[in-house]
Formats: sequence, C-alpha cells, structure tokens
Amino acid sequence: MSRKPMMAGNWKMYKTPAETHAFFEAFKPLVADATHCEIVICPPFPNLQVAVQEARGSSIGIGAQNLYWGKEGAVTGEVSGHMLQAAGCRFVIVAHSERRQYFGETEPDVVRKTQAALEYGLTPIVCLGERLEEREGNRTEEVLGAQFDGGLAPLTPAQFAKIVIAYEPVWAIGTGKTATPKMAADAHRFIREKVAAKFGAAAAAAVRILYGGSVKPDNVKNLMAEEQIDGALVGGASLDPASFAAVVKY
Ligand code: PGA
Repeated sequence: MSRKPMMAGNWKMYKTPAETHAFFEAFKPLVADATHCEIVICPPFPNLQVAVQEARGSSIGIGAQNLYWGKEGAVTGEVSGHMLQAAGCRFVIVAHSERRQYFGETEPDVVRKTQAALEYGLTPIVCLGERLEEREGNRTEEVLGAQFDGGLAPLTPAQFAKIVIAYEPVWAIGTGKTATPKMAADAHRFIREKVAAKFGAAAAAAVRILYGGSVKPDNVKNLMAEEQIDGALVGGASLDPASFAAVVKY
C-alpha cells in the first residue's frame, strides 16, 4: 500500500502574525509544484487565521498545536476543536512531548483530545516517543507500547483510520541529535506491529507514521529512504521558508 508522505511544520512558540505573513509570501512559491507530499504548517493560535488566509488556494494545510476537548465552556486559556475547525484548521498536533513534559498530558488526555479533534473534522497528529534515559535503559519499546496502549488502542477502528502518528524520540527534539534512519525505522516498525495487533494488518499498512526530532534539509533524504517513514514533523527547520521548502522537496 502506498502512503502519501506528510511534511508537517511545528512552529511551537515562534512568530507573530506579521512574521507568519512574511513566511507564507516566501514559502508558497517555493513549494508551488510539490504534489508528492501533503504539507502542513502548525503556527501558534493567534496566527491561525492569518495562516489559513495565506494558505488559501495552495495545497498547504493549517494545523494547531494543541486543543481541549468539548465544544465550549468555562475552561480558561483553552481552545476547542470546534473553534479550530471554525478558524479553518484541518489538523492538530496532540500530545507533543513538550505538552507531556511541561503540562503533564497523560494517555487519557491523548484519547480525549484525539477524539475531540476527530469530532470536529480535524486530523490529529498524535505524538509518542521515549526519553533519553528510557532509550539508554533499553526501555524504548516498553514506553512506546504503553503510550500506544493507553493513548491509541482505546480508539475505535474508524477513529484510528483517520489519525496520523508522529514518532518523536524526546532526546532528538531541538537537540540536533537525529535518530539514525535505522533507529527511527525500527521504532516505526514496532509501532506498526502494535497497530496490526490491535486494529489489523490493513490499518497497519495504511497508517502514516511521521518521524520527528531535528529533521533538517541535510538529513531528511536518508530518513525518507526508509520504507517505514512516511514523513516528518519538523520544529526548528520549519521556521525558515527556504529550509522547510528543502525538507518538503527532499
Ligand atoms: P525539532 O522539533 O525539529 O526542532 O527537533 C521537532 C518537534 O518537536 O516536533
């Protein structure tokens, strides 16, 4: 089965609306002929509407970096899937390791957020990955297995069919240390085996698993040469139009 690659930029807490406008002015012409992959950009909340307007008429999809479950309510500081959908978003990152680490997001949150995204027609990009001490302690598969069992296995098969997974080893995020293509491919294979055991072989063959963690123009080609790797979730290298365009056009 062929899976269409996805290159998703996670801007984290960077850029103002004016900087978002400038990014798109430079980025759009660079990727105008890129049809081999799906391109997604996830800016901070205040830039979403500018990004949606800028991306109109292009093949670039816009996503948010987080959401809260429910449609609306007395939940100060949170943003719902309903609001993201109304703002023109089509994607949302769920359970990025920075959310897990700094804001205590847990596997039950992953389930609630993923289901809330789907309820409002957003494609969730659900992140999982091990920390350095877990990899060094030979616990990578145990950790990925527990994250899968707690966060993804509770989904229905119909829900699971609509998600994208991002494997992001925490030790590779923003550190300049990329997992080798083989390390990433091994983790993806393990996750795909978990998917096959829970949702069946067809679901495992269909689900896209992105790699994230210091993906740059100079390492993306080798990562994408792995059959297991269906794209990338890119932080730092997605902030500059030329560098993200080079990643997209690996
Ligand atoms: P990085 O971030 O590319 O800057 O390592 C990746 C991510 O956190 O999604």
